[in-house]
Amino acid sequence: MPLKNTSIVSGAQTKFGYLDGISQREMFAEAVDKATVEVGIPKKDIQAAFVGTFIPEMLIHQGHSAPLLLDFAGLRGLPATRHEAACASGATALRAAVMAIESGFYDTVLVAGSEKMTSVSTNRATEALAAAADDMFESSMGLTFPGVFAIAAVAHMEKYGTSPEDLALAAVKAHKNASTNPLAQFQKEITLEKAMTPRYIAWPLRLFDCSPISDGAAAIVLTSKEKAKQYTDTPVDVVGTGQASASMNLCDREDFTSFEASVSASKTAYKMAGLGPKDMDFAVVHDCFTIAEIIASEDIGFFKPGEGAKALRDGVTALDGDKPINPMGGLKAVGHPVGATGVKQAVVVYRELIGEAGANQVAKHDTGFMHNFGGTGASCVVNIFRRSDA
Ligand SMILES: CC(C)(COP(=O)(O)OP(=O)(O)OC[C@H]1O[C@@H](n2cnc3c(N)ncnc32)[C@H](O)[C@@H]1OP(=O)(O)O)[C@@H](O)C(=O)NCCC(=O)NCCS
Repeated sequence: MPLKNTSIVSGAQTKFGYLDGISQREMFAEAVDKATVEVGIPKKDIQAAFVGTFIPEMLIHQGHSAPLLLDFAGLRGLPATRHEAACASGATALRAAVMAIESGFYDTVLVAGSEKMTSVSTNRATEALAAAADDMFESSMGLTFPGVFAIAAVAHMEKYGTSPEDLALAAVKAHKNASTNPLAQFQKEITLEKAMTPRYIAWPLRLFDCSPISDGAAAIVLTSKEKAKQYTDTPVDVVGTGQASASMNLCDREDFTSFEASVSASKTAYKMAGLGPKDMDFAVVHDCFTIAEIIASEDIGFFKPGEGAKALRDGVTALDGDKPINPMGGLKAVGHPVGATGVKQAVVVYRELIGEAGANQVAKHDTGFMHNFGGTGASCVVNIFRRSDA
């Protein structure tokens, strides 16, 4: 059934990065204020909140996040529910909010995601993140996410001839795009040589093949199409959404060169929107590692299996290419505070579609695509957004 009732009317994020001295609740409140009162949307109009955060219990010893964060953001009393799907927590919160508006249950809701990751050591953060893998067969045996995506990189290299240089090119593109994004963790371009020099984190992935450990928050306001014009002249409609899951245990996967939940969620969203990959002007995909962007560009149907690296080499996915991917820098260079990421991706698509992406503006911006997955792609949410006047 096509979606017909939900619009995004605002979206904002905090700066991502190592935000020393700023707590999760402060970041969350900042993002909420930027997406509401600072753009003329009164907080009293918000009827419910959908909150994404992955694992604050291990990172800051804080559970029961939704009411706590809402209270701090000046929204005490609202129905507030936390959504957790590892790195896809933000997008699952968003999808639940879309369904709530589509059903007519609410008119106007807040979706907000956040994570405070840098208050613990990298080792501790790695251990916390590993909870998104299958503990019985993977994390308890020492497998970490860099290790998991290294397996995917090796498989892609063996099957399609993707090279370490291709991976590095994804990092170069991410850092280039992020260099003009003032909210990015890394605002510095890197050369191909620099990308291929640092230490291995998990062979063949080097430092620059990994997204960093980050703090940050993002928020959007969704409302019914009928009410959208009250808040903005440029609403963006949610025209398709898809969600799928896959086996957590990698031993049950047939193939490491593709993530079946990404393929399945994309197909569902395209079908719902009545659109296909050729209709998408650009995409924001879950590039937690460089190989993840290459695989995602194939799984979402932009390129045939095995042709993602070539598209990257040929500049097709560059900011000024035919199919820009991660035009503001992606997780790799903007940062990846996991619970915030899916919401931030929606913020990026929204800003691109309304023509407010500044130096990172894509040329064609009627329809945009977002892809957010959790763990090793065991959860995936895809959304397709279109400017109401397009
Ligand atoms: C790659 C990783 C291990 C590096 O952590 P680390 O070894 O503790 O690195 P540090 O924080 O000490 O940083 C060392 C330097 O590298 C830089 N750096 C850290 N991570 C980086 C990254 N991912 N990309 C580029 N530079 C990075 C830091 O800014 C710092 O630079 P400086 O010396 O100029 O200040 C860590 O970022 C990581 O685990 N990333 C993966 C996160 C993840 O798995 N997320 C979930 C995905 S599903």
